[in-house]
Order: sequence, then structure tokens, then C-alpha cells
Amino acid sequence: MKWRLFLLFVPFLSLLHPGCVSFDASPGKRLIRKRCTACHSTARIYKRGRGLEEWTRVVDRMVAHGARLEKGEREQIIEFLASRYPAEGVR
Ligand code: HEC
Repeated sequence: MKWRLFLLFVPFLSLLHPGCVSFDASPGKRLIRKRCTACHSTARIYKRGRGLEEWTRVVDRMVAHGARLEKGEREQIIEFLASRYPAEGVR
């Protein structure tokens, strides 16, 4: 009756699927967690807001540091950061 044991595991397997384990539905935030946390935490990223130009400069600098972004991800990340963490956040 090994298959019964297997069936018992099926719900747990779905927990292991990366797309299913997300506590933030925002795709921008998820992308940043995936691509931008190899070298530092997200705390460093969300510490202060910046305008669109400055976010663009930061993301391009990260790419120069070695961040690997796939096609379209650079724009997605910049747009997310500029709209959720705009320059008004500067203290
Ligand atoms: C290859 C390593 C690496 C990856 C991946 C990386 N960073 Fe960085 N990040 C750095 C280093 C090194 C610094 C400190 C030097 C600097 O600011 O350029 C830094 C600093 C920062 C800062 C603070 C800059 C400041 O002026 O205070 C922000 C914001 C940031 N990173 C955002 C990001 C974002 C967004 C991503 C994803 C696109 C990312 N990082 C991915 C290496 C990385």
C-alpha cells in the first residue's frame, strides 16, 4: 500500500513549489527577492525612496556589480521601485 503513503505526501509537495510559497503577492517584490538578495538583504533596498532616474541608476549599478536580470526584469524592477518607493520617502 505504498501508493497511499504517496498520496499523503501530495499536499506537502505543493508546499515545496516555489511559486506557491509567497507571502507577498506583488510580482515586483517577489522578483526583487529572487534577483536582488544574493549580495545584500532587501532592507538595504527599501531603506529609502528614490526617483525613477535614481532607481534606474541604482539597478544599472547592481547589474554592473554582477546582478543577473533576464530580459524585461530590469524595467519591471525599476518601475516597481519607483512607484512603491518614490523620492518622497527620503528623510
Ligand atoms: C552582485 C551583487 C549584488 C546584487 C545581485 C545586487 N546588489 Fe545591490 N548592492 C551591491 C553592492 C556591492 C552595493 C554597495 C555599493 C553600491 O551602492 O553600489 C549595493 C547596494 C545597493 C543599494 C544601496 C545603494 C545606496 O546608494 O545606498 C541598493 C538600493 C541596492 N543595492 C539595490 C539592489 C537591487 C534593486 C538589486 C536587484 C536588481 C540589487 N541591489 C542586487 C551588490 C549587489
